[in-house]
This record gives sequence, C-alpha cells and structure tokens, in this order.
Amino acid sequence: MLDIVTFGSEATDAILRAKAEPIKDVNAEIKALAAAMLESMEHGRGIGLAAPQVDRSIRLFVTRLDDDEPRVFINPEILLVSEELTDYEEGCLSLPGLYTNVRRAESVKVRAWNARGKLFTLEASGLLARVILHENDHLEGLLFIDRLGEKRRQRAVQAYLKKIRM
Ligand code: NI
Repeated sequence: MLDIVTFGSEATDAILRAKAEPIKDVNAEIKALAAAMLESMEHGRGIGLAAPQVDRSIRLFVTRLDDDEPRVFINPEILLVSEELTDYEEGCLSLPGLYTNVRRAESVKVRAWNARGKLFTLEASGLLARVILHENDHLEGLLFIDRLGEKRRQRAVQAYLKKIRM
C-alpha cells in the first residue's frame, strides 16, 4: 500500500503545493504506479487520488466511483468546463476528516492518456466531473480548501489542524 501524504506539515505541504511534471512515457513503472494508486485509493475509501498525494510530483491521477470503472488519467488537459456550477460536499485523502461544500463546474471535457498509453477524450458531469476537477487541481498544487472563500478556508484549515494535532 502506498503512503498517502497528508496536509499539515512543512514537508508534506511542499509536496502537495508543487506543480506536477508531465509524464514523458507511459512505461511499466507508470502503469504499476497507477495500479498501486487505485489500490491505495480504494483502501482509503477514496474515489480519486493524484500522484502528488503519494509523493510523486507527476501528472497522473486515478478515479473510481461506485458505479464506474477504474480510470487512469495521465497528462490530463481540461478542454472545457461548463458555465453551470454546483455545490457538493468534498473530502480528500490528504485532508482526512475534513468535508465541506465546494463550488465547481457541473460538467467537464478532459483529454488524457490512459494506462495503456492511449489518448482519450471524456465528457463527464456530476460527481465524476467533480472528482476529475478535484484531482486535476492536485497536479497544479491546489487543494479543495483553496476553492473556498477566504473565511471558510481559514475556518476549515483551523478545524482540520486542530483535529490532526489532538
Ligand atoms: Ni484530494
């Protein structure tokens, strides 16, 4: 099982805050990493996991919703987001125990390489769109708390830090 990097210390925050590097080659190591990430994500009962969360600053994330197949996104590009926005409660394996409503686009069009190294384009809406946007943010060094207004962000971070330091 891969260790999941959690927010709240200088060392881990540097990892979570870095902009991840493009992957040049979908080789055996990347395939093995994606498989291990899916396993670790399911173990942690998450529905998405990005490589920076397992201490790899590369552009890769995985998703698996209850009613969906496991998906691997390598070097993803968000091509379109809807103007329609929705609020929905989010959590993150890197901020365990913190859940709060985040406003995001209702649907998204994304292009990426899959674990077989094939380029694909996907149009998603609802929860899958949300997970894709959340995980893609990780590749930019952004966390879901950064999508809150400043006051809500401060409150969420304080509540989270208090909890992990107890
Ligand atoms: Ni996350």
